[in-house]
Amino acid sequence: MLDFEKEFSVEPIGEDEIRAAGDLAANQVLRNLPDFTYRMQNHSSVGHVYPACDNVQWTCGFWPGEVWLAYEWTGNPVFRHAAQIMVQSFLHRIENKIEVDHHDMGFLYSPTCVAAWKLVGDEDGRKAAILAADQLIARYHEVGQFIQAWGQMGAPENYRYIIDCLLNLPLLYWASRETGESKYADIARLHAATTLANSIRPDGSTYHTFFMDPETGGPVRGETCQGYKDDSNWARGQAWGVYGMALSYRYDRRDEYRAMFDQLLGFFLKGLPEDMVPYWDMIFSDGDNEPRDSSSAAIVACGLLEMADIVGGEAAEHYRLLARRFVGSLWRGYAVRDPSRSNGLVLHGTYSKKSPYNTCTPEGVDECVSWGDYYYLEALTRLSRNWSSYW
Ligand code: GLY
Repeated sequence: MLDFEKEFSVEPIGEDEIRAAGDLAANQVLRNLPDFTYRMQNHSSVGHVYPACDNVQWTCGFWPGEVWLAYEWTGNPVFRHAAQIMVQSFLHRIENKIEVDHHDMGFLYSPTCVAAWKLVGDEDGRKAAILAADQLIARYHEVGQFIQAWGQMGAPENYRYIIDCLLNLPLLYWASRETGESKYADIARLHAATTLANSIRPDGSTYHTFFMDPETGGPVRGETCQGYKDDSNWARGQAWGVYGMALSYRYDRRDEYRAMFDQLLGFFLKGLPEDMVPYWDMIFSDGDNEPRDSSSAAIVACGLLEMADIVGGEAAEHYRLLARRFVGSLWRGYAVRDPSRSNGLVLHGTYSKKSPYNTCTPEGVDECVSWGDYYYLEALTRLSRNWSSYW
């Protein structure tokens, strides 16, 4: 039994609200198709409007993922048609190695190409996703047992992994099941073990990035990239940890994943303001005049619903109720209701806000963010039916 849920007063989203929110979101996706079928949606909006971009960003998989979700939501074949056009773009990207020298293969290929294979048996989707899994395991270091996030392989300044990578691991578990080759899942397990050993502080908060020693493979230090400072708690990193543990537990029923899920969730919940949508770094609270990151709430809602499906019983009821509260808050306080204001789904996301202690490029501050929209619609879809995951 979890004892933190009782502290929240946000009303859980009701069935009618789920239907209304999903319909509104699917209509928004439909409205956007002419702009984003042959081009992708930028990682974040500018003045609440997403520009188009080429298929070169780590975030380009989320928009096609929304299109697949809208297809499931409505059954309208126009979504399937558009999503399969995008699958061809992702096949082209991986075959030609266009901007794929990083670890974000799962973010790119699970909601696009794995989804296409699972939903409509798209063979090119399957092929592209397996190529992406091959690309991802090529970034694995035996010395340190981790998948390197960014940069030239083995370069000392980039000999690190990041907590976000937990969401790239399902692609590897899927590839092992699909091909019968254990090498993908073996690497996923080793990387997850390294993350658990180093990235989680004793209080259940997380380091964003973690350096390993290229000589000995031992842990060196945690550092932030997108959080406020090295020892603060970047909200989305914590959210990736929560959902990542649920997904690892789905593929591999290790007790430590389940226990870590609760620990990470507990820290996340403790740092929330009253409406359950965190500030972009959890060092901040009401009155600090800092922006929220609504995407973190959507990600955690999906993690809760994933874990609820696995564990059942009383814990599942608690997880589901919490997820309904998160999504209720997003729907009532953050969802785009008026398409003349924005072509996104959820306002008040934060991609990357500069601080005196980090060096990240400031982008997408208090905007719609592509993954925030995707996970919001995934959470609504999960709440509306027995959803078969793309992850
Ligand atoms: N994976 C990078 C981010 O969450 O912004």
